[in-house]
Amino acid sequence: MNDPADTLRATLADLVDGLPPRQAARAVERLIANYRGDTPTDAPILRDRADVVAYAAYRMPATFAAVRSALTAFAKAVPDWVPGSHLDVGGGTGAATWAVSDTWGGTRPVTVLDWAEPALVLGQEIAASLPALREARWRRSRIGAALDIESVDLVTVSYVLNELTGSDRAALVDAAAGAAHAVVIVEAGTPAGYARVVEARDRLIAAGFRVAAPCPHSAACPIEAGTDWCHFAARVSRSSLHRQVKSGSLAYEDEKFSYVAATRLPVEPAASRVVRRPQIRKGQVLLDLCASDERLRRSTVTKRHGDLYKAARDAAWGDPWPPGED
Ligand SMILES: C[S@@+](CC[C@H](N)C(=O)[O-])C[C@H]1O[C@@H](n2cnc3c(N)ncnc32)[C@H](O)[C@@H]1O
Repeated sequence: MNDPADTLRATLADLVDGLPPRQAARAVERLIANYRGDTPTDAPILRDRADVVAYAAYRMPATFAAVRSALTAFAKAVPDWVPGSHLDVGGGTGAATWAVSDTWGGTRPVTVLDWAEPALVLGQEIAASLPALREARWRRSRIGAALDIESVDLVTVSYVLNELTGSDRAALVDAAAGAAHAVVIVEAGTPAGYARVVEARDRLIAAGFRVAAPCPHSAACPIEAGTDWCHFAARVSRSSLHRQVKSGSLAYEDEKFSYVAATRLPVEPAASRVVRRPQIRKGQVLLDLCASDERLRRSTVTKRHGDLYKAARDAAWGDPWPPGED
């Protein structure tokens, strides 16, 4: 089995099978409680094996899916580019390394940097099941003013900014911009996550980067601060552990995330992007778009638009619009 998404699912299922169910559920509950506490913290939240197994089983499928969505949109905007090397900062158990492998085939030097040793150890164990990640380096390091990033093609920062102080966030984004051709940042799809993404986006643009996705332009975000937040959703199959911890029988859930993918490479951003779930009405589809003229607008596509109407019925939240121009 070499498909990264399937391999990850199977590897994480084996990991959970090795745990007594009550112990696994307790570890997840502790993890959720810790993540509810005040962040940033002075020491890693992921402290021991039980914490990281819970993280990997409970959160990694969702962070993987969110990063994969962001990378897919990014890859469409830089169609001829394949990263020759990848650094995942605050990589934890390595979700973003799996997402990179899923987006671009082949192998490349991969480094995962994190201050939580148990996360790095488990990440390396999980990565043993994917040939593309077997040579990855798992490096213990603290993100802060002293962070030194060697020259690399792609830096990912997934669900990490939230755990850093303002100055450490700025230091990390500046260090990434100084070292990489492309930087992809993913945060939770909440107003606060979006605010951190916009802050990082502004810093990347100031450093000479252009936004490849989700935005159709590199001017200021047209959302008026405090009125809304740009976010997307990635569908994630629920594992047996999820069903155990979250009562209910849904087979999936939607992971909400905000992201920015920016680069020094030539980019072909989408003409517009669908920024809300399309509303399908009788004979018409309402699309909320962020457009290259730096505005948000609603487009109503009706049956009279022929093929475009058919495309609008298939359009999903987060897709480029119109189709074929991505
Ligand atoms: C929510 S986890 C995200 C892990 C992974 N990137 C993912 O998407 O699944 C946040 C990670 O950031 C790491 N982290 C937080 N603050 C850090 C710091 N100051 N230095 C290094 N790593 C840090 C944590 O140890 C943890 O692994």
